[in-house]
Amino acid sequence: MFPLKRLRRLRKNETIRRMVRETRLSPDNFIYPLFVTYGKGIRKEIPSMPGCYQESVDKIVKHSKEIYSLGIPSVILFGIPEHKDEKGSSAYDEHGVVQKAIKAIKNAVPELYVITDVCMCEYTSHGHCGIIKNGDVDNDLTLEILAKEALSHVNAGADMVAPSDMMDGRVKAIRSLLDSEGFGAIPIMAYSAKYASSFYGPFREAAESTPQFGDRRSYQMDPANRIEALREVELDIEEGADIIMVKPALSYLDVISDVKQTFNLPVAAYNVSGEYSIIKAAAKLGWIDEKRMMMEVLTSIKRAGADIILTYFAKDAAKILND
Ligand code: PBG
Repeated sequence: MFPLKRLRRLRKNETIRRMVRETRLSPDNFIYPLFVTYGKGIRKEIPSMPGCYQESVDKIVKHSKEIYSLGIPSVILFGIPEHKDEKGSSAYDEHGVVQKAIKAIKNAVPELYVITDVCMCEYTSHGHCGIIKNGDVDNDLTLEILAKEALSHVNAGADMVAPSDMMDGRVKAIRSLLDSEGFGAIPIMAYSAKYASSFYGPFREAAESTPQFGDRRSYQMDPANRIEALREVELDIEEGADIIMVKPALSYLDVISDVKQTFNLPVAAYNVSGEYSIIKAAAKLGWIDEKRMMMEVLTSIKRAGADIILTYFAKDAAKILND
């Protein structure tokens, strides 16, 4: 009771604040997303994502060394292929950009843990995350192709695969194929609760994966739903997911918290492109303190319950944390 209880006592200086701090960020928590493109010597900055690049394999290898030297343990790869078609066939091409990048990275920096995004949207001419039938993405036709894509990544040396398409049953389809091909030890990180979000805008510019018609609302979740996220996560766990993800992060901290409290698997959260771009843009205008806002945002995602954070801020944050 006041004045016997004064919570300000433990806020007096940085030393005591450091001692009672509840949430601690570390570069160990980060996965850094990379965009692999075809060609050689290419490193093209993404206009809406300053500090992020589309890079050819040779440049990605150099970049991967820098990432690992900052203490970041892992990257997730997205591909920008030379050819797109209706069925996204370059997604499982053994000579595809992602497959080449995996081999080159694992060769140059074997300790760097290479995760791949498994989805069709970067490889289809229509930009949707699966095979189109009667004007919509056909769930079951897509499963087989996703499993083939995942297998081709693992064959190239990927350490983990991360399906992001939101088809029903894809974790099981991928798990079954990997197991039957002798890859029972490769984990799956499922984008389990992935919402149909406006925060993906800059990524679609980066990955050249904007849908050419319609939107993704027939497969990604309605931003208004919270209980449904638990059903999505539960099913992915039943199908064999090893890590479950909530995406985006900032507008869905309640979902991250629910998932963490309900299930006992590691939880990942994707601090997506729009969440990155709005901070970068405001910083450019001189309206905010970029570094403080970045650290506050990342701390809030961890505080909500995320064990792992996929973030374009990984390098900038690691530099601060390593200081
Ligand atoms: C592929 C995919 C997307 C993102 C990750 N994987 C885009 C989408 O679903 O449209 C978004 C990542 C980001 O915005 O940073 N399906």
